[in-house]
Amino acid sequence: METVYDEELPVLKRIKIPMVWERMSCGICIKDLQPDKYDVALNIIQNNFLDDDPLCKASAVLGNDVAIQEYLKVALHWIQDTQSFLAVEDRTDRAVGVLIGSVNERDACTNAMNGTRIYQSIPMNKMQKFLAHVHKQVNQFDVFGVEALYEVYIWCVVREYRNKGIGKALLRTGLEQTSQFRLSAAMGVFTGAVSQYIAENMGFQTLHEILYWEWKDGDKAIFDSPGPGNNSANLMVKRVVPADVINI
Ligand SMILES: CC(C)(COP(=O)(O)OP(=O)(O)OC[C@H]1O[C@@H](n2cnc3c(N)ncnc32)[C@H](O)[C@@H]1OP(=O)(O)O)[C@@H](O)C(=O)NCCC(=O)NCCS
Repeated sequence: METVYDEELPVLKRIKIPMVWERMSCGICIKDLQPDKYDVALNIIQNNFLDDDPLCKASAVLGNDVAIQEYLKVALHWIQDTQSFLAVEDRTDRAVGVLIGSVNERDACTNAMNGTRIYQSIPMNKMQKFLAHVHKQVNQFDVFGVEALYEVYIWCVVREYRNKGIGKALLRTGLEQTSQFRLSAAMGVFTGAVSQYIAENMGFQTLHEILYWEWKDGDKAIFDSPGPGNNSANLMVKRVVPADVINI
């Protein structure tokens, strides 16, 4: 991790500069997502996530204006809830990826998809019901014997920047922050082949897998088009080593 402070700047200006967590050799930096970039992050989500995330795609969020607004509202709620990250191209200052996550506590309802929120649109209701079900299959807190853990909610790289390692760098940063928060577990519901492949390669284990075609309303499959190769949503977890406590 690195900070980009200019020693000449007054301290109150310095603390507003986003921290750089990782500087990649391909010219991309992973930085804290700060309020002046929330719109940029939401823009990436609207244009590169809603149609590509297998669960959003299968729920047909993008085809429904109310669902889009509801999803973006939840996304903003998550962004404001805790620190998230932005991948930025140094040369152009273009934002090219986001990781939105939150610390979940055992007794708090921090996850807006946990079934307590009421949505107007059918796509959001479908997705919420599914995610609430997935979360109920395993008590992740008991699995690790912890009171809090980090959950990845939204993970997205702009299409033309994919397969350059930016997705991995974002997830690595989420794990690094988990360690800095002195939490010892991270989790996510990874919704398709690519995210599951990366998570598994970074040490996540699947605790529960739900095949999309098996999620039905009567005889009818609810999710019929998660995209080729995307067969399941997997609740995946990883143990993290908490950063050392510094004794002063
Ligand atoms: C998931 C996502 C963030 C990954 O970002 P990315 O920058 O492309 O990821 P990286 O470049 O770090 O890694 C991509 C890896 O996936 C692999 N991959 C690419 N296509 C794949 C496929 N169809 N199946 C399995 N693995 C695949 C690549 O080979 C690469 O692995 P390698 O380095 O071992 O070769 C990006 O694909 C994305 O935004 N997808 C749409 C939204 C989404 O699904 N988000 C996840 C929701 S849980």
